[in-house]
Amino acid sequence: MTSSARLDTPDGRGHGVAPARKRAGATSAPARAGRVRVPTARRPGNYVIVVFGAAGDLARRKLLPGLFHLAAAGLLPDRYRVIGSSRRFLTDEQFRDLAREAVSEFGTSQPTGAAWQTFQRRLSFASADPARTDSLAEAVAQAEKEIGGTPMRLFHLAVPPAAFESTLTTIGAAGVARGARVIIEKPFGTDLVSARILDQNLHALFDESQVFRIDHFLGKESVDNILAFRFANGLFEPVWNRKHIAYVQIDVPETLGLEGRGGFYDATGAYRDMIVTHLFQVLGFVAMEPPSSLDARHLRAETAKVFDALKPINPRQAVRGQYTGYPGEPGVAPGSGTETMAAVRAEVDNWRWAGIPFFLRSGKHLAASRQLITLGFHEPPLRMFPAHRARTPNGRRNEIVIDFADPGAISTGFLAKEPGATMRLGAAEMTFRYADSFDTANGLEAYERLLLEAMLGDQSLFTTSASVERLWEVSAPLLENPPPVQPYAPGSWGPQPALNRLTAPYHWHLPGAGAPSLVTETSAPT
Ligand SMILES: NC(=O)c1ccc[n+]([C@@H]2O[C@H](COP(=O)([O-])OP(=O)(O)OC[C@H]3O[C@@H](n4cnc5c(N)ncnc54)[C@H](OP(=O)(O)O)[C@@H]3O)[C@@H](O)[C@H]2O)c1
Repeated sequence: MTSSARLDTPDGRGHGVAPARKRAGATSAPARAGRVRVPTARRPGNYVIVVFGAAGDLARRKLLPGLFHLAAAGLLPDRYRVIGSSRRFLTDEQFRDLAREAVSEFGTSQPTGAAWQTFQRRLSFASADPARTDSLAEAVAQAEKEIGGTPMRLFHLAVPPAAFESTLTTIGAAGVARGARVIIEKPFGTDLVSARILDQNLHALFDESQVFRIDHFLGKESVDNILAFRFANGLFEPVWNRKHIAYVQIDVPETLGLEGRGGFYDATGAYRDMIVTHLFQVLGFVAMEPPSSLDARHLRAETAKVFDALKPINPRQAVRGQYTGYPGEPGVAPGSGTETMAAVRAEVDNWRWAGIPFFLRSGKHLAASRQLITLGFHEPPLRMFPAHRARTPNGRRNEIVIDFADPGAISTGFLAKEPGATMRLGAAEMTFRYADSFDTANGLEAYERLLLEAMLGDQSLFTTSASVERLWEVSAPLLENPPPVQPYAPGSWGPQPALNRLTAPYHWHLPGAGAPSLVTETSAPT
């Protein structure tokens, strides 16, 4: 942070007190690959990787490009094979074509040259048709023979939740589960009962040490950096508690709509799709006590304690919104009551956080796409300095804002004396930007990191079955008695005045996203 801290004005132009400079070195891919606790030279042993849903959206956008990027960066094992599996039949050649198109469209490395030739030779296809499990068994056996020795197996279930069970049945029937690791996508169930059933199905084939429940937010450098920010610095952790912090916001609004996934979304909704799966996990990192080490056992034990301390979500402290026009979308049931925006007030009932609201908000077709954590500090006890609302749009509270959209940034908002003869305050900001401070060129995307961690057998960034169950348990009051959805205009910030009421006496705003969403104060002295 020291090499790049800038004193920026709210308009982002900045009066750089220390010019941002790129860090020299750190250019070799392996050195950028892992977190500090993972020895940088560590590479997984030999692997057969099976991607179920290999022709689907996630596989095309993230997994196939990600695997190629890992291969090109020298981070995959010496010997590996990637088997794509899907109900529709593809030849090996057709799967390679599909992979090349996916890498070309979505990848950071282009599918050309020797790296691509080597990678594509290691791709093959197996049918996921439950009536043809011999195809999967043969493809795995063939891949293992080509690799030689006893490679590990990794299965990535990149299929919709409705297909988790049938895919597990296929793996079981093909007789390939023994000793394998399995990555399972979100959402993990739709409530406590379905999560437990899914766990039973998983545990019929795999023990917990083999299961990697993925939440790609936890693979983001800037989410992982919350741990470094808090626990590697003496500066922030002492104020990271209810004595100093008045509220926490975790915001993931999206401008995107359903993107052709109406059927899936209508059965899921914003709360299950985003808040239970992603935002609570981020809350776990923000609210946790210092772990005694960064290994999986200690890290997951501390987030579990946070989830244990969560109060059940009160339906009266939740807002469900639906953008106008949603029921007419393809795949959406006529008259659907599914929420396309959810906002809740959560509370972590422990000594560090008792009484402090955590406002979580996410939704589709909102005014901006952001991924932000905002910690608002209490005001000092005395207002000794004059300030003007127009110059302090977010009021007098100091805020720490963690922007965890790639490549990520952290800023601190505070009040400073404006130059001039009178003592008058204006808003100021100190900002750390990943892209200004570090060479991010060789960084890994969240899915790439998580694929690598799963191959290495490190579960730190994957959720446990107990934590998933606890999150469904605290969600039960809301899921059982959801308040009716309230309409909002696409491109707005969601339904009002309900959101204002939820956050009162605080004002929900999105730092750096233009006008605060909820503040309607006049330009008067404060
Ligand atoms: N897309 C993303 O950006 C994204 C991001 C984060 C997480 N995820 C998660 O990743 C998983 C996959 O998402 P996706 O967007 O890739 O989904 P998708 O494109 O709708 O489906 C992936 C593949 O699953 C197969 N499939 C669909 N329904 C099936 C069924 N009933 N039984 C068996 N196979 C079925 C289909 O392949 P065949 O018909 O060829 O078999 C399809 O190509 C989901 O759990 C999602 O929540 C997705």
